[in-house]
Amino acid sequence: MRIVQLKADNFRLFDQLSLPLSGRLNLFVGENAAGKTTLLEMIYCLNRARSFRGSVPTELAGPARKQWTVFAATEDAEGVRHSLGVQWTADGVALRCNGNPISSLELLQQCPAQILEPGMHRVVLEGPTYRRSFIDWGVFHVEHSFMFAWRRYRRALKQRNQLLRLRRSEQEISAWEPELAESGEILDQLRRQHLQSIAPAVNSWIQAFLGEGQWTFDLSSGWKSESSLRNALQQQRSRDIELGATTVGPHRAELKIRADERSVRNRISRGQQKLLLAAMLLSQCGEIGRVRGAWPIILLDDFTAELAPRYQDRLISALLDYPGQSFVTAFEPIPALDSAGAMFHVEHGKVRY
Ligand SMILES: Nc1ncnc2c1ncn2[C@@H]1O[C@H](COP(=O)(O)OP(=O)(O)OP(=O)(O)O)[C@@H](O)[C@H]1O
Ligand SMILES: [Mg+2]
Repeated sequence: MRIVQLKADNFRLFDQLSLPLSGRLNLFVGENAAGKTTLLEMIYCLNRARSFRGSVPTELAGPARKQWTVFAATEDAEGVRHSLGVQWTADGVALRCNGNPISSLELLQQCPAQILEPGMHRVVLEGPTYRRSFIDWGVFHVEHSFMFAWRRYRRALKQRNQLLRLRRSEQEISAWEPELAESGEILDQLRRQHLQSIAPAVNSWIQAFLGEGQWTFDLSSGWKSESSLRNALQQQRSRDIELGATTVGPHRAELKIRADERSVRNRISRGQQKLLLAAMLLSQCGEIGRVRGAWPIILLDDFTAELAPRYQDRLISALLDYPGQSFVTAFEPIPALDSAGAMFHVEHGKVRY
């Protein structure tokens, strides 16, 4: 799905916006506080119905503070036009596709988008949660059943944890284990399949960007590999009762990233972290495009800023070759983009093109 036209009303510093977009690479250029990140936030909102900056809907409203709207005219792989709208009013957030109300899960599937922004070094440097959610984004878009397994798992986990906290009988606690084990094994399997499918592409993107090293991506399931999750839950039960929480399962999975057999955490440079994430994202998007026939939208906010010119060029040329749509923000025009894509000048909530 591509966004052909982006419209917004009263969204942060943009009173009114109507922007025709390129189906390939779009560059938003402007000074600090011009509104570049806000434009990416609008596109993200059309996919997740929320901001990636952690803002609540009220904070996204401009000075009038009563409502905001983001709207997109989109085109699918067959060239059929659709419309998507996200509107916040005092009654809450309303989502529409072709004028009809839709759920947040339906919105998520309409126009997949993923962002790389400066705060995302967390994915490499911080705890496993960030890596899991980065990977799970791709798993979900390749295999939508991931979400259903995840909901089953989360529900069973919540119930088991509550019983553990209340120190209820082992019989009551174990009653949730078959459901937890079955849905948990599905999640683990889907994650493994996805990682296996993208591994060659991740390595070849890393080689293209950085040109060195042998990188490996190992998923530890969240329980001992020699045991089934059902057995692991059973074996761990008395300890879980002591701790008041379920300590095994895919919610404890960890993606270990190694370069030349050493963990990359706290070792690779800022630029390498960015290029590693870009390699992972491009590979996930490639896999989603291959399986679904629809290429996710890639959003890069301030992403080229800390990269030396030759690395910037490599990343931009990867985006120019990307069959889907992408959006990049920068302070200055990017020379490699002169003859391709579309450039927009952003200034105090106004866009020139
Ligand atoms: N709800 C709001 N209403 C009006 N203006 C807002 C609102 N929220 C943020 N702003 C303003 O929007 C501007 C920030 O816009 P944005 O973050 O998109 O800028 P940017 O071009 O990405 O800047 P930078 O290059 O520094 O990242 C700030 O000046 C901020 O005060
Ligand atoms: Mg910004």
